[in-house]
Amino acid sequence: MRKNLISIGLLSCLLWSCTSSTSAPDDDATTGDTTTTSSSASTAQTGGTSASAGGGAGGSNAGGSGSTSAGGGETNEGGGGGTDSATSAGTGGAGTGGADTGTGGTPDEGPPKNLAEKYASLFPIGAAVDSQSYMTHGALLKTHFNSVTAENEMKFESLQRNENSFSYDAADRIVNFAVTNKMKVRGHALVWHSQNPAWLFSNGSGGTVSKQTLLTRMKNHISNVVRHFRGKVYAWDVVNEAMMEDGSYRTGNLADGQKSRWYEILGESYIAEAFKAAHEADPDAKLFYNDFYNYIPAKQQGIYKMLKGLLDQGVPVHGVGLQAHLNIEPSTVTTNQAYYQNVANMEEAIKLYSSLGLDVQVTELDISLYIPGVTYNQSTFYTAATFTDALKAKQAARYREFFELFRKYKSVITGVTFWGIADDNTWLSEFSSGRKDFPLLFDGNHNPKPAYDAVVGF
Ligand code: XIL
Repeated sequence: MRKNLISIGLLSCLLWSCTSSTSAPDDDATTGDTTTTSSSASTAQTGGTSASAGGGAGGSNAGGSGSTSAGGGETNEGGGGGTDSATSAGTGGAGTGGADTGTGGTPDEGPPKNLAEKYASLFPIGAAVDSQSYMTHGALLKTHFNSVTAENEMKFESLQRNENSFSYDAADRIVNFAVTNKMKVRGHALVWHSQNPAWLFSNGSGGTVSKQTLLTRMKNHISNVVRHFRGKVYAWDVVNEAMMEDGSYRTGNLADGQKSRWYEILGESYIAEAFKAAHEADPDAKLFYNDFYNYIPAKQQGIYKMLKGLLDQGVPVHGVGLQAHLNIEPSTVTTNQAYYQNVANMEEAIKLYSSLGLDVQVTELDISLYIPGVTYNQSTFYTAATFTDALKAKQAARYREFFELFRKYKSVITGVTFWGIADDNTWLSEFSSGRKDFPLLFDGNHNPKPAYDAVVGF
């Protein structure tokens, strides 16, 4: 599997909180993206201006590397950079010796149950897997999860690197594993501005593809892919990240990596067309619109309006995915997107979307140790040694409050998926700077963390 350190358009935005990156000293790429974002932002929340907040953090810490996305990152969501599969430290080590389970469970309930079992009456519990991790982390997966998402293997560039030549092998292996182990499979993602092959938007002679041809290519891709996985993939992220933090559409007027060429060439109608094509290819599949920063009021309103418009036109949309790449605490910087990152704002998003009769799924959950708007550098990057018990407890508390919210909305939440399985393989540690993160429920040795206890302790 090839991880694309660049195309992750959102990353830089995520990384830099879409705020101030203009000031990021070293990482020009990040700067670009974020600026764009903010340029369309009219409100304080989305950020635009304040110079230093996120930006200042940047240059140094994440190491830049010149490649678009990865760089910056003082915040959370962005990894993206980096290498291929075996992200960080030792992969192996499955389930070695004990300890490290920490506190936080409810003692009177005895040993925590297996995660998915504990949630069986509420919603499936999923994990994003890559072409290696479903094997290297197979024991954990089978024990604790009953749903999987391919982290990269079902993206456009993975499935149709060359026009009309579909490569399903890597994705099929993941799906077969899931089917064999009676797990659900979420498909991710059919139409996104990122991780697309170059030919897709090109006319083959140096120019841009025509509207008609791009629409045909989009429908052809969706039709092939959705039919291929029909009966195995129960839900699809049909369109990913089409909206901006201020509630406007992601247009073509943004920096490379951030802009949507789909919108640029097809206009907003590409969204409806994508859902219709997916529905035609598999009328039984649950079709989702997936996005990040749902806790930002302006963004959730924008998504709501867009979805309402689709439903009013009879477009087959069935649910909304909340990526939920969270941080250990909200930002204190008012112009930073993560200033809005709290349970109450997330609850508003759930209420709003479900008021349309849509399912809600948490699709890419993780909780980074890094706080958006704070400057980190090599000396303050977390390591296994500086991920102290106090921090573990703090992360556990943050997980606990969000899971309380998810359980409260069990009637509309139809799945919660983590973006990874254990801390030794997370996109958040893919920075070229070497910045490590510890965002999941299981540690690098595949043992449960206090966060695990917090999630099952109810
Ligand atoms: C990320 C993967 O985790 C990385 O391995 C890859 O390099 C970039 O993409 N939102 C999404 C996901 O919808 O597809 C992204 O996955 C993370 C952010």
